Amino acid sequence: MSVWITGGAGFLGSHLVDALLRRGEVPVVIDDLSSGDAANLRAPCPFHQRNVLSLDANFFQSGPPSVIYHLAGDALVSRSVAGPVADMDRNLRPTLHLLEQLRHHAPNTKLIFASTGAVYGENAERPFAESDGLFPISPYAVSKLASERYCFAYARTYGLSTCSLRLFSVYGRRQRKQVVYDLIRKLHADSRQLTVFGDGTQVRDFSHAANIVDAFLLAAEKAPFQGEAINVAGGETVTIGELVDLIAEAMDVNPSVQFTGARRPGDSQRWIADTAALRSLGYSPHVSLRDGLRDTIEWYRIHPE
Ligand SMILES: NC(=O)c1ccc[n+]([C@@H]2O[C@H](COP(=O)([O-])OP(=O)(O)OC[C@H]3O[C@@H](n4cnc5c(N)ncnc54)[C@H](O)[C@@H]3O)[C@@H](O)[C@H]2O)c1
Repeated sequence: MSVWITGGAGFLGSHLVDALLRRGEVPVVIDDLSSGDAANLRAPCPFHQRNVLSLDANFFQSGPPSVIYHLAGDALVSRSVAGPVADMDRNLRPTLHLLEQLRHHAPNTKLIFASTGAVYGENAERPFAESDGLFPISPYAVSKLASERYCFAYARTYGLSTCSLRLFSVYGRRQRKQVVYDLIRKLHADSRQLTVFGDGTQVRDFSHAANIVDAFLLAAEKAPFQGEAINVAGGETVTIGELVDLIAEAMDVNPSVQFTGARRPGDSQRWIADTAALRSLGYSPHVSLRDGLRDTIEWYRIHPE
């Protein structure tokens, strides 16, 4: 039976495609290229350029997949803050549509949904655990939480096999957005001075894409698939100020750094995960923050904008 990846031409999806191909599995990619790039699919695999919302009975006729990794969506909190209704169309509706398709045409398929740690909201003094209260502050996080809840409801009510992975801060090759990319891009352009959004004290729990891929593959094998949600993070917590230092060190530059002091609407100050549930499945991240940053910098030097 085959494996499908929605959003497979995006940043994380394409790393998952690569990992499956390395294991000798050829995934089917469904991506409308709204933010992804077909060039991210470097080895041949079946590719359907279409919106998840267009999937119908015909699409399932060749046989249901064993697993669908559902990564199609929008990862930008700022875009959801600018347009909450459009965000619902990009993040919630495709997930609900996919669940409906599975209910009717592939009830035995396992669905793994790419959710976000942003569902917790802000400012916990300790790492967020799956049992904690959920108080999302951005429209993006509300869409993701609603999607998770639909995954749970479809597991309980219709007996589907669903699992949501709450990804915390992710970075790596091919990601042309978010803070790690932004810092590398700016320092590549000017190694003497750097302006950084915020005051440098925001705390984040970064994961290299390779670690996230490991978590997806592990979940496909070992998660209970009863509608649960599981945190995924790297376990190496840093402030943005410390991240700047690590990136500057890896790039061998010594910039004068200015923090804007501003706060981005929808962003949380502290964002750290308790990953005991994932670790109980056998997870341990194999790429450290230092190595992951070096790898990302190396990629950027070869592929600057
Ligand atoms: N990158 C992160 O830091 C992060 C953190 C938490 C969660 N996530 C989630 O992980 C998933 C992947 O994130 P990413 O950073 O790789 O984003 P990305 O934008 O690089 O990839 C998303 C892919 O989905 C495709 N897509 C979007 N809507 C679609 C639709 N309706 N039908 C078909 N294809 C569609 C896009 O063309 C793109 O290729 C997203 O759902 C995102 O919300 C990402």
